[in-house]
Amino acid sequence: MGEKYKEKHRPQYHFSPEQYWMNDPNGMVFFNGEYHLFYQHTLFATSPVFDKMHWGHAVSKDLTHWEELPAALYPDENGAIFSGSAVVDWNNTSGLFDETPGLVAVYTSNDNDPETNRPRQRQSIAYSKDAGRSWTKYENNPVLSDVNIADFRDPKVFWHKDTEKWVMILATGQSVTLYTSPNLIDWDFASEFGAKAGSHHGVWECPDLFELPIDQDENNQKFVMIVSIGDNPEFKEGSRTQYFIGHFDGTTFVNDNPEETIKWLDYGRDNYAGVSWSDIPDRDGRRIYLGWMSNWRYANQVPTEKWRSAMTLPRELALTSSEHGICLIQKPVSEIQQIRQETISYQDELLNQTNPLTINSISNLLEINIEFEKVSSSYFGIILQHSETEKTVISYDAVTEKLFVDRTHAGDNSFSASFSANQEAPIKMINNSLKLQIFIDTSSIEVFANDGKAVFTSLIFPNDPCNQIILFSNEGKTRLTSLELSKLKSIWSA
Ligand code: FRU
Repeated sequence: MGEKYKEKHRPQYHFSPEQYWMNDPNGMVFFNGEYHLFYQHTLFATSPVFDKMHWGHAVSKDLTHWEELPAALYPDENGAIFSGSAVVDWNNTSGLFDETPGLVAVYTSNDNDPETNRPRQRQSIAYSKDAGRSWTKYENNPVLSDVNIADFRDPKVFWHKDTEKWVMILATGQSVTLYTSPNLIDWDFASEFGAKAGSHHGVWECPDLFELPIDQDENNQKFVMIVSIGDNPEFKEGSRTQYFIGHFDGTTFVNDNPEETIKWLDYGRDNYAGVSWSDIPDRDGRRIYLGWMSNWRYANQVPTEKWRSAMTLPRELALTSSEHGICLIQKPVSEIQQIRQETISYQDELLNQTNPLTINSISNLLEINIEFEKVSSSYFGIILQHSETEKTVISYDAVTEKLFVDRTHAGDNSFSASFSANQEAPIKMINNSLKLQIFIDTSSIEVFANDGKAVFTSLIFPNDPCNQIILFSNEGKTRLTSLELSKLKSIWSA
C-alpha cells in the first residue's frame, strides 16, 4: 500500500477506491467475518465521472481497514449495474446453493427499452458461492420489472422474521414500493408508501428499512425508513437524505408522524445514498450505516483527478427520545478508535473574547472531542485554521440554538458555485453544555453533536493541512470543560 493513496485531497481513513469514479455504497453485507462494501463504480482510465456502472468491491474485518478487490459485477445484456443490496441466503430459499449458504445480490439493471428507446430499470439478482469473490448472474434476469415507472430502482432486501418472507423496498418515482418473496426470485407487490409524506424535492432513491429499539429498550422497537432524495436545482442543499419512523408488519409501513416536519439524516451537504449492513449477527446487535460522501450537485466536479469520492465513516444507528421526539442518532463505530495515536487533553479552561485557546495542531488527521459549557457567551466554537486564508469554522449560536459548519473559506470552492456553504442544524444544549466529536480527514469533516443527535458530513478541499485550532468565545464567557485532541493514523500506511 505504501506509495498509493498519497495524492492531494486523498482521504487517509475513509474508504475511497484506488482509482476511478465511485458513488453509492451497495450490497453491504457481513459474512464469514468480513464486512463487504460494494459500490457504484466506473472502470475507465479517462476522467473519473459518472458513466457505465459496475459494482466495485472492498472488504474489511474491522470496518476501519479496507482491502479493495476486483470489481464484482459488470454490465451485461440487461444493462449497467445500478444500486442494490446483498443478503446471506442462510436457508437456501433461492435454491441457488448446495449445502453451504452463500450471498445473493439484488440490483437494478439499467438500460433503454429497445422498442421505445426509453430508459428502463428492472431488478436482477446474482449469487456468489465463494464469499463474494466471484458472481454468477441468475439465468432468468430480470426478476422484477414494471413497464410503467421510469424511476424504479435501488432494491434493499431483508428477511422479515415474523412473516418468514424476504421484503424488498424499492424507490419508485417519489415513493417507495414494498414487495415480498419466499425465494428472492418471485416478487409480489405488498404496498406503496410516501406519496403524501416527507420531502418531494427530488426523485426518491436508495431506500432502507430496519427495526431499532428506542432508548435501548428491546421491548420498545420501531421501524426506520431511510430515503435519499435526488438533486433539485431549486434548493441549495442538492441531494440529501430523509427518514421516517413507524410501524411495519411485513406488508405495510405506517408513518408515526404523518404531519410532522421532515426529518433529515444529516445537516451537512455530503452524505447521500447511505444504507445499512445486512446480516450483522444478532449477538452484535448493531445497525451499521455508511453513506457516499458527496452530493450530486457537484460530485462530478470535485477537485480530484485519479479517483473521485469517498465514503463516510461507518456509523452505528440508534433511536433516542429527544426534544424533537424520537430521533435517529449516529455515532462512528467504536472500531475507528484503533487508529487513535497520541492524545493531548485540556480541562476546565475559561474562554472569552480576549482569551481564546490556540493550539498548534498535532496532525492533519484528527479526532477532536470537546465539551463546551455556556457561562455568559451567546456564540462560541472552534476554528480549524489551515493557512492564513483558509479555515473551517464550527460555531454554536446559543440564542437561535443552532450549530454551524462553515466551509465558505475552507479551501478550493472554485469547481462549483454551489459548494461554498455555511451548513446549519437546530440543536439544544443539555444543561448548558454542548458536546462535539469531530473527525478531520484531508478532504472532509464529520461533526457529531450531543452524541450524534445532529450530524454534519461535509467535504472540504483545503490547500494546506489544519495547522492551528482556535477555541473561541464571543460576547461573554464559555467554559471548555474538556478537550481531547487525538492524532489519527492513516489506514493506508503499512
Ligand atoms: C443514487 C443513484 C441511484 C442509482 C445510482 C446510479 O445516487 O442515482 O438511484 O441506482 O445512483 O449510479
